[in-house]
Amino acid sequence: MFEIEKIPSGFKMATEVLSLGSETRPRISWNSGGVLFSLSQTGPSRGFADLYEAASLYLLKKFKFVPEIITFDPHPLFCCGRAAATLKAKFFPRSRLVPVFHHIAHVARFAIDEGLKKKYIGLAFDGNGYGSDGNSWGSEFFIYSGGVFSRRAHFDYMRLAGGDAATKEPWRLAAGVAFEIYGEDIFKRDTAFLKGIPKDRLRLVCQMLEKKFNIAYSSSAGRLFDAVAAMLKIKSFAPREGEAALALEAEAKRSYGAAVSYPFDIKEQKSGLCVSFLPMFKEIIQKRSFSRSERQVVSRRFHVTVASAAGRACRLLRKKFGINLVYASGGVFMNDVLCSDLKEILRSDGFKLIFAKRPFNTDLGISEGQISAICMDKSLRSGSLKCV
Ligand SMILES: [Fe+2]
Repeated sequence: MFEIEKIPSGFKMATEVLSLGSETRPRISWNSGGVLFSLSQTGPSRGFADLYEAASLYLLKKFKFVPEIITFDPHPLFCCGRAAATLKAKFFPRSRLVPVFHHIAHVARFAIDEGLKKKYIGLAFDGNGYGSDGNSWGSEFFIYSGGVFSRRAHFDYMRLAGGDAATKEPWRLAAGVAFEIYGEDIFKRDTAFLKGIPKDRLRLVCQMLEKKFNIAYSSSAGRLFDAVAAMLKIKSFAPREGEAALALEAEAKRSYGAAVSYPFDIKEQKSGLCVSFLPMFKEIIQKRSFSRSERQVVSRRFHVTVASAAGRACRLLRKKFGINLVYASGGVFMNDVLCSDLKEILRSDGFKLIFAKRPFNTDLGISEGQISAICMDKSLRSGSLKCV
């Protein structure tokens, strides 16, 4: 009923932790005697709450494992926070409950892959994860230094009209960007990428943007790819998350010749450096229609732009914190074109860049990353997490 895997780790973890991972990829992990394990269920799948309880009981009976800390993703719509409280009440009354934010878990896998380092810049680029400011995150730059993680840069927030619905309908993201540039006029203008969108949906999204209701905000790099895919009419609808980004990457691979970055801005804000792609979006939107080869060139230039922006943000962070080592994790780094561009930009600038091992750069690696984060970050262990 359960399959146990011993996870090779370059970091001997001292605090014994049970991790409930993320509901996006159910995987339960724990560490005991400095050794890291993960457990997956075999046979018929069960609900999350049942899985967490059955796995905890199994660990308790078979290994007499009692964690000092139970950790989980604090996403308010995920059941793992409630499940952690139930496990504590039923099986582990002396354990402490410690949430670990999704993107910290992504970058904390570094110590598992490479061993513990005193400081590094951790990039977490993915589709979606709950952030400590209540927004959806997904393009986060953390500094690990002095035994704590701190969020020091991110891509600017985009409007998600209709919240999660925007992940399946990338045109909503593109409409949100166009609304930011042109205001309400986009619905009166003959906006090319909105042609073919059912009128009732368009009207609804228009009202959401104008009246600012049912709008979520996301710094996700994945959503950035979605918005560009919709603007180029490569994918206006994408039932599966990541579909639009994959299609955009495929177009970029068909482009020949050197690609030049679009313009972008980086500003210092309270939450750290904020990368704005509005200058790029303005250029893309200005062009009303695209031939097939133009789509390929824009897709290619977009990839270079994201890598260049990440490179410039890393340079600014290096200047401020004196850190030259970069670790890149998150599902967006399954994109080979982006990885290759980032590698070229950072390495030619003297950075040491390490990518998280695939497929653990996706949410499959979150549960082990949560344990690593707790063992690495003294503010998490003490319960005084601050990461905005
Ligand atoms: Fe993720």
